[in-house]
Amino acid sequence: MRKLMCFLAAILLLFSGSSCSEPALEADVAERLVLGFAQTGDESEYRTSSSNDIKRAAEAANVQLMFENAQQKPFNQIKAIRSFILKGVDVIAFSPLVEEGWDNVLLEAKAAGIPVILVDRIIKTEEEGLYSAFIGSDFKREGMQASEWMVERFSNTQGPVRVAEISGTVNSSPTIGRHEGLISVLGQNPKFELVCSSPGDFMRSKGKECMQYILETDPDFDVLFAHNDDMALGAIEILEENGVAPGSDVTIISFDGQKSGLEALKDGKINCIVECNPYVGDQLMALAADIEAGRGFPVHTFVEERVFTDSDDVATWPQRS
Ligand code: AHR
Repeated sequence: MRKLMCFLAAILLLFSGSSCSEPALEADVAERLVLGFAQTGDESEYRTSSSNDIKRAAEAANVQLMFENAQQKPFNQIKAIRSFILKGVDVIAFSPLVEEGWDNVLLEAKAAGIPVILVDRIIKTEEEGLYSAFIGSDFKREGMQASEWMVERFSNTQGPVRVAEISGTVNSSPTIGRHEGLISVLGQNPKFELVCSSPGDFMRSKGKECMQYILETDPDFDVLFAHNDDMALGAIEILEENGVAPGSDVTIISFDGQKSGLEALKDGKINCIVECNPYVGDQLMALAADIEAGRGFPVHTFVEERVFTDSDDVATWPQRS
């Protein structure tokens, strides 16, 4: 797209008779990198922050952003990527809803010579080399950090310690990675037992439904391991309605660390949050520019993330809006 715009701007300049010394609007337009971004949806506070950060960063970097929201449907994301290919954007980026099913559309992007950047989540494809770079989280590490905190918290308890899990979107990389992290730590600590696991699609409303279901089927648990704050907050509402005190009767662990999650941690309703960092907008713009310009770039970048707990000094926490 940028190459095409440069060519058109050159033609325009030629016919308008402008001299090289005059500032030309067309040339400015021609310099703008065009980035197509296909977002998963707006299932969580994390996602809202991610979308806002990408829009902010694009504006700051003078990148022309085409932004599509897939409303949690992989089909919509594929459609959005195809539309970016048709429009001839310079770079495509997306946060893949699920790990698999991208081969065809990414082969199409490759055939069109458009580089692809994965943001936040990773994919699995049959053919290698279908994306240029990844920037996001190490979900297995997040799952292990949360589980290691749990092991430490229950170090003086004899056990068994029963864990109920509310996972995220089925077949998505955060769900797979966080679950694997949990299982690998539980495997080393036999006094912990995973009693149930229910998928909540990273949504608060579904966190409520999952907790309702867990209370009906497996009500005897000591820890809730929720794959994000939104689902934990939904589950907390149901626990409270049922006379269970979150944070004391049941230990609550979750992921993200956006505003509502940190408030619940401060109020003692969540005990530990492993951060999932959505603020990659500036890095994404720099990466897209480097790739487009043929400069060197890192293929895999894992963002920095920390662990927030109920024993922290809250003054050290970041301000979230
Ligand atoms: O991929 C990151 C996950 O997706 C976040 O933990 C969750 O809140 C989001 O929707």
